[in-house]
Amino acid sequence: MNVYGEHYRTIWVKEDDPAVVQIIDQRHLPHKFVVEDLTTVDEVARAIQEMHVRGAGLIGATAGYGMYIAALHAPKDSVGAFMESLARAGGQLKATRPTAVNLAWAVERQLDAIEEAGGDPEARTRTAFDMAKVIADEDADFCRRIGEHGLAIIEEISRRKGGETVNILTHCNAGWLAFVDYGTATAPVYAAHDKGIKVHVWVDETRPRNQGARLTAWELGQHGVPHSVIADNVGGHLMQHGLVDMVIVGSDRTTYTGDVANKIGTYLKALAAADNDVPFYVALPSSTFDWKRRDGVAEIPIEQRDATEVRTINGLHEGEIVSVLLTPEESPAVNYAFDVTPAHLVTGLITERGVCEASEEGVLGLYPEKRAVVQG
Ligand code: MRU
Repeated sequence: MNVYGEHYRTIWVKEDDPAVVQIIDQRHLPHKFVVEDLTTVDEVARAIQEMHVRGAGLIGATAGYGMYIAALHAPKDSVGAFMESLARAGGQLKATRPTAVNLAWAVERQLDAIEEAGGDPEARTRTAFDMAKVIADEDADFCRRIGEHGLAIIEEISRRKGGETVNILTHCNAGWLAFVDYGTATAPVYAAHDKGIKVHVWVDETRPRNQGARLTAWELGQHGVPHSVIADNVGGHLMQHGLVDMVIVGSDRTTYTGDVANKIGTYLKALAAADNDVPFYVALPSSTFDWKRRDGVAEIPIEQRDATEVRTINGLHEGEIVSVLLTPEESPAVNYAFDVTPAHLVTGLITERGVCEASEEGVLGLYPEKRAVVQG
């Protein structure tokens, strides 16, 4: 997508130095556009853990490039030592954030590809480079296709409204900043806007890290999509007054039965949507499905982050990003980063293969090759 009129992805290899992977350091957005160099596995792990990069797809793509960086630095004297070093790096990367399944998926995909291609450590390093690119390119392509499938839903609502503005509510940032390009929840919005369909996005601010207010608002603005930032508690009121035509959110992990883990607060939006007959869609690429877990509430690991994120807020003050204390100095806080929306509250899953019901039958209908994995 475009930033100040120039096309960017969220992660790429430095043009004149293939040992350097570059990312947009999202901690500084929307106030500063900062590109960061990653050259070691420690730097990649820190970038994921401290959320310089975030969002399921981008975490996966970063882990893919992290494994390539691990291969560059792994001992080259024996295949055994090389693979051992890669397995250690994979473990380090996987430990950074627990909820987005794309992270473990990308690490495993790299290890499988490297093992399968075989060869000496140099050849294996080339495989890691190629696979990192495949993971990133596939993410962008899948998001583009999610946009096409979601567009049909927005078009239908627009037709029903006689061409009046379609109001879409989203939570957190499942935009292009959370993936390699396009995003998931935002991809249908961009596709509709580009086609001349009138859309307006209600952007939940998404406390405590404000990914909606800082990131979704910024990227929609860069693309010229009309939007309004709202406090997290406003959505229910808007729905009761007919001001929301549909909700589209992303996902960090979705069970093959259709339970959806997404940024904390998503569940409450789904409840409000169900109470007001507002369609509630979840957009995700297949890399976000967890083919091993059935019961999202019981089985999906929920990240708990530092309470400081709740007790403080960051913003721009006299040109600098500063953090200020919100709570009484002595009040403790807890910081659950995700919640799970049960499948029965989800109208449909928008994937790169099309839209399906949020149920085991619906999901396996689109991904029949996974039946054996799920049953095994
Ligand atoms: O903690 P984050 O910012 O990595 O959270 C992930 C998200 O951006 C959201 O939950 C998003 O809606 C789904 S991931 C694209």
